[in-house]
Amino acid sequence: MTKKVEDFKRERNELNDVVMKYAKKHIKRFYNLDTNVYLDGALPRKTKELLGLVSSLVLRCDDCVEYHLITSDENGVTTKEIEEALAIGLVVGGSIVIPHLRRAFKIWDELQETKKEKILDKIKSAINNADEKEEKLKTICEILKTNVEHYDWVGFYLVDKKEELVLGPFVGESTEHVKIKFGEGICGQAAELERTFVVQDVSKETNYLSCSPKVKSEIVVPIFKNGKVAGELDIDSHKTEPFTKWDEELLSKICDWVGKII
Ligand code: SME
Repeated sequence: MTKKVEDFKRERNELNDVVMKYAKKHIKRFYNLDTNVYLDGALPRKTKELLGLVSSLVLRCDDCVEYHLITSDENGVTTKEIEEALAIGLVVGGSIVIPHLRRAFKIWDELQETKKEKILDKIKSAINNADEKEEKLKTICEILKTNVEHYDWVGFYLVDKKEELVLGPFVGESTEHVKIKFGEGICGQAAELERTFVVQDVSKETNYLSCSPKVKSEIVVPIFKNGKVAGELDIDSHKTEPFTKWDEELLSKICDWVGKII
């Protein structure tokens, strides 16, 4: 949690405690309603948090916007979903909403930076604490899949002598693509061209090896060892256009570290 978010939560709790010191049944009932209305129902919790966020933005309540950004983040809302929700708030509320939109994105950015740092800390300990290379790589996959909502398949491919990628540790459904030649598919292109490939919609990529019809997008980051591609980190998502700079920064850092242990 960022310092700002911690302070916000603390102040909110302290003020609620004061309210509860005086509150009788009407205030208490309203507070109850305010909690229960956001619980999972026909609409999932995530959607309800976004509805709360949009209404708060239109009403220009910065505290309410911040609260719903925090709860959205805690409930696995993605950056793309936040951007689309805030866009609706802007269109409905008009340009008078813009100062509040600025603050909203600033808070979201801080939440995402903190999330990235926390994930990197967990990965650093996995690299330092696990004994075997296999175990380190598998744990990295698990940390990424558990902590990033839009990661549905996370795996490593390692380069063998014949300019070929061989599937290493992974988390997610098993894949038929256990060996991939350089140049083939998104993985093969990333290895051949020695650069990160971000494919936001795999249906538009002609050189693509499908693992499952559920996969909508993919990011592949090469891992360099002594200046040469030694492997790559491959991530599939069941969402279209989920990847941002945030993913590239997170995954490049991890691949830098992995390059030193493979
Ligand atoms: N889709 C990849 C193949 C590997 S799977 O995603 C696990 C590609 O086009 O290279």
